[in-house]
Amino acid sequence: MADAVKWERFERSAPEWFANARFGIFIHWGAYSVPAWGEPVGELGTLDAKDWFPHNPYAEWYFNTIRIEGSPAQKHHQQVHGGAPYDDFLDQWKAEKFDPKAWAELFAYAGAQYVIPTTKHHDGIALWQAPGTGTRNTVNRGPKRDLIADISSAVRAAGLRFGVYYSGGLDWSITDLPPHSAEYELERPSDAAYSMYCYEHVVDLIDKYKPEVIFNDINWPDFSKREGEYSLPALFDYYYEKVPTGLVNDRWGVPHSDYKTSEYKMNLHVEDGGVWENNRGVGYSFGYNQVETAEHYLDISKLLHHLLDIVSRGGNLLLNVGPTASGEIPELQQKVLRQLGDWMKVNSRAIYGTHPAEGFAPSESPWVRWTAVDGEVFAHIESAGATKFAVPAKLVKDASAKYLNGESVDLKRDGDSITIDIKPQVGPVAVISFQLN
Ligand code: GLC
Repeated sequence: MADAVKWERFERSAPEWFANARFGIFIHWGAYSVPAWGEPVGELGTLDAKDWFPHNPYAEWYFNTIRIEGSPAQKHHQQVHGGAPYDDFLDQWKAEKFDPKAWAELFAYAGAQYVIPTTKHHDGIALWQAPGTGTRNTVNRGPKRDLIADISSAVRAAGLRFGVYYSGGLDWSITDLPPHSAEYELERPSDAAYSMYCYEHVVDLIDKYKPEVIFNDINWPDFSKREGEYSLPALFDYYYEKVPTGLVNDRWGVPHSDYKTSEYKMNLHVEDGGVWENNRGVGYSFGYNQVETAEHYLDISKLLHHLLDIVSRGGNLLLNVGPTASGEIPELQQKVLRQLGDWMKVNSRAIYGTHPAEGFAPSESPWVRWTAVDGEVFAHIESAGATKFAVPAKLVKDASAKYLNGESVDLKRDGDSITIDIKPQVGPVAVISFQLN
């Protein structure tokens, strides 16, 4: 390969706003939101590739799944859509109820600090007028809008930061590769022309929207992993110069990243230190899947478990919403976000800017997680009534214990454990703060 790249030159400490944010919203919206169909078979990381791909629960993978011979998605596509070409969905995607301001207000209410929509997913359809896409984008077809402009302005007007998802690894519109069907290792385009195409896309996203995160997906075309024009190093240089507060994730297939990502139960090994983010949908899909019901979705208790477990270990949660083709966020997804917002209104002090609490052990029964800021620790407890858990006597001032709504806490100490009568009205997970000794 030409000029070996010294990736160490990109080493920097990641801009602090990201790890302090702890909670962001991911948005998967595309032509796949029209058929909105996948089999809700389970979470990524819990199935073999052979079972995953033909039954893919990710509705945004529809264009791939319907090409797998004999798959239930292929049958569904034949029966319901008469086997129509995938691109028909782009024209059927009208986004007629899209209200970016209402979306942004919901995300802000939920307590999110940043928002990352898909700008081009694996189907290759751009949600802005991307160079070289001709009319195969949402400005010329379907919604007839620059959705990235709409989302970025609304999100920023609501006081949140804005980032972009871009699929550099896969683009099913520019290759004739067979569908991915049995391996998590994915065959992908890597030639010079595709490299330049992706380069120009991301430069255009940077110029137009100044994203503070670039969440690339799968990998980056190999041709660009060299020094010189249109290279990935040139892209990183350009990005950091234009957006000094920006971060890139770890899915470029090169040693450099500002933070690591895990997805549902995949790549959990990255969650052991440094800056990291877990992402998942409210259900088993990122794109809206009309097959899913409440049983597949996180309810507020499960969502808080997931968020607090992540934050207590020093990570971020990027929680995905999958809007319908008309532009509505499905009611069950909205509901859990509003419930999270109700909880955050009282307790977000125990989330933002916190770090893991050293010396305080999590427990499963009762369910307890810990976070900390300077001089203060927070116990997150899911329980009602008399609850006993470990709080090392040496570390805290018992008399300082308080719910975050300001109510005082009566506690009984017994060695290194305390018992608290948790009031049910403090919400699905009670948070109690203690001053450190
Ligand atoms: C994956 C999937 C994709 C989803 C993404 C989110 O790589 O292919 O559908 O966009 O991860 O993390």
